[in-house]
Amino acid sequence: MQIYNRIATLRQALAEERAQGRTLALVPTMGNLHEGHLQLVRLARQHCDRVAVSIFVNPLQFGLNEDWERYPRTLEADIARLETEDCDFLFHPSETEIYPNGMADQTRVVVPTMTDILCGASRPGHFEGVTTVVAKLFNIVQPDCAVFGVKDYQQLAVIRRMVEDLCIPVAIVPAPIAREDDGLAMSSRNSYISAAERPGVTVLYQALCWCRDQIVAGGRRDFAALEQEAAGRIEEAGFRPDYVSICNARTLDPAAHDDGEMVVLGAMYTMGARLIDNVTLTLG
Ligand code: PAJ
Repeated sequence: MQIYNRIATLRQALAEERAQGRTLALVPTMGNLHEGHLQLVRLARQHCDRVAVSIFVNPLQFGLNEDWERYPRTLEADIARLETEDCDFLFHPSETEIYPNGMADQTRVVVPTMTDILCGASRPGHFEGVTTVVAKLFNIVQPDCAVFGVKDYQQLAVIRRMVEDLCIPVAIVPAPIAREDDGLAMSSRNSYISAAERPGVTVLYQALCWCRDQIVAGGRRDFAALEQEAAGRIEEAGFRPDYVSICNARTLDPAAHDDGEMVVLGAMYTMGARLIDNVTLTLG
């Protein structure tokens, strides 16, 4: 695996690959790689001849009171994991390499409306930070495809929208959610969950699955009541729900009774973490 910190040298290496006619996949990450990230790398390999992973804990997407400082940075372990996977390039830039003019004056990419709801409502500016850095990574790497996890469902929808709206020639490949044995979606932020809370946090996934089953098997369409009941289950388990929302799978608008593809999204707070999850459903 070749490792680059600088845009110029990475571009040189990638230009050589392109000159050989090889296709390139990008897997953007913030590091602290777990099995979910590695599945993205494997999926990228199925789509392209060469795979590049980026590791950059992007300060622009963290709010003032969020966890940028304590976000787990485990570069040595990440490199070791990527070495055992079929990864060709690792891009690990510094903050000044990505934001040479400082963050305040950085040109931004904004996807409106869709970013004001769900996680965007409780994390103002978050998605603007994501779309800005992902647009930059796309311009730096110029990949043929890029892989994103369905785990961050809203992020995936927002990036698809950005690519469509700005005519960015990158195919977006979704990767399924990797889960622990008990259903908890894998996340770098799971390390913030205390041992005492850990058994109970599966309630988030369970509440979302319950909603899905009520719609699919139970035939219920009283979405607002379902959302409230699911949030109640989270509260009963001792956690503070942020939201449970049943949405149109593509637009993220509130689900309509006749929508064929829906997604049930949820977020909740533990003592030390904010966890998100979602389940999709198709109605025949
Ligand atoms: P990060 O949280 O490191 O996630 C990197 C990629 O891994 C994202 O596409 C995310 O959806 C995916 N991922 C994380 N956990 C997953 C799981 N359990 N199953 C499947 N995929 C999973 O998301 C980001 O970084 C950043 O916002 C980024 C896109 C890199 C921009 O800074």
